[in-house]
Amino acid sequence: MIALEYKQGELHMIDQRKLPQVFEMFICKTWKEVDFAIQDMVVRGAPAIGAAAAYGAALAAREYEQEPKAVFLSKMEESLAALNESRPTAVNLMWAVKRMRNLLDRHQQENVEQLVERIEAEAHAVVAADQAINIAMGNYGNTVIPEKATILTHCNTGALATVGIGTALGVVRQAFRSGKDIFVYADETRPRLQGGRLTAWELVQEGIPANLIADSVAATLIRDGKIDVILVGADRIATNGDTANKIGTFMLSVLAKTYNVPFYVVAPTTTIDFDMVGGNEIVIEERSSEEVTHIDGHRTAPEGIGVYNPAFDVTPHENITGIITEKGIVRAPFNEQIPKLK
Ligand code: MRU
Repeated sequence: MIALEYKQGELHMIDQRKLPQVFEMFICKTWKEVDFAIQDMVVRGAPAIGAAAAYGAALAAREYEQEPKAVFLSKMEESLAALNESRPTAVNLMWAVKRMRNLLDRHQQENVEQLVERIEAEAHAVVAADQAINIAMGNYGNTVIPEKATILTHCNTGALATVGIGTALGVVRQAFRSGKDIFVYADETRPRLQGGRLTAWELVQEGIPANLIADSVAATLIRDGKIDVILVGADRIATNGDTANKIGTFMLSVLAKTYNVPFYVVAPTTTIDFDMVGGNEIVIEERSSEEVTHIDGHRTAPEGIGVYNPAFDVTPHENITGIITEKGIVRAPFNEQIPKLK
């Protein structure tokens, strides 16, 4: 199972809005459809939207390949600028767009046909790299998982959020596949229920023993000593270690610190924003009020109520035990260790 795949000039994505009830592909033939798919969360998860944006660029390149070079370049820039803004928090998106801009810049003497091929190859390279990175993170992460660990995780950080085995859920997978007798508690992750719909689906598919919990159950489990390790993903990590991830992650980190439970962030180095010094600079996406007032299209809150719906929060680095990357596990002092990963 792969979250997205490029086939004969089309981008096929698993429509994550419909899982687990319906397994359906959402097919993008144009970069504008990719832009929509990222915004509407057909595809979501930091590395997956990075890969989607890379293929969005490939679709744009195919759409404009008949244009004279100057028009091609200006249309490419228009599409890259739009894709760059499709969601604000996950830096993998901007990283993928920057990679495409740099590519066009480095090969500016080439003709349109050559550029189109380079862009397509670059998008494939983003995917291949993410797959290898996921395995490396999974293996490093497995070293901190005890033989009979009970693991708590938040949001969806698995194959659906990446193009490989996942970040935090990739570590869970590697621990399970290596024969460890693990048990997982998956937060359902209000309001979009990435845990309840997507992580639960991946856990069932893989046969990993797990319970789905309402987000508010985590505190009791942690206090009662039922959780050995907490694994979460990341959407953007500042160089001091402050980490933006799905709303609710910060709350878990406070609980972890209070009750002395190891709290690991699992993320590729593409999720590190090396230009950002601290988490206070991270732009937090706010999504529509309907995500909170409605469930599956049905209104559950009264008309007229105000809603505050930030999609992410920032966990301060002091609450993080370690950041598991494809280059190894980074620990405090993060502001000294993280820049070395560049
Ligand atoms: O809003 P989403 O579903 O895109 O948020 C996803 C997360 O917060 C994940 O934890 C994060 O992207 C890391 S997943 C590999």
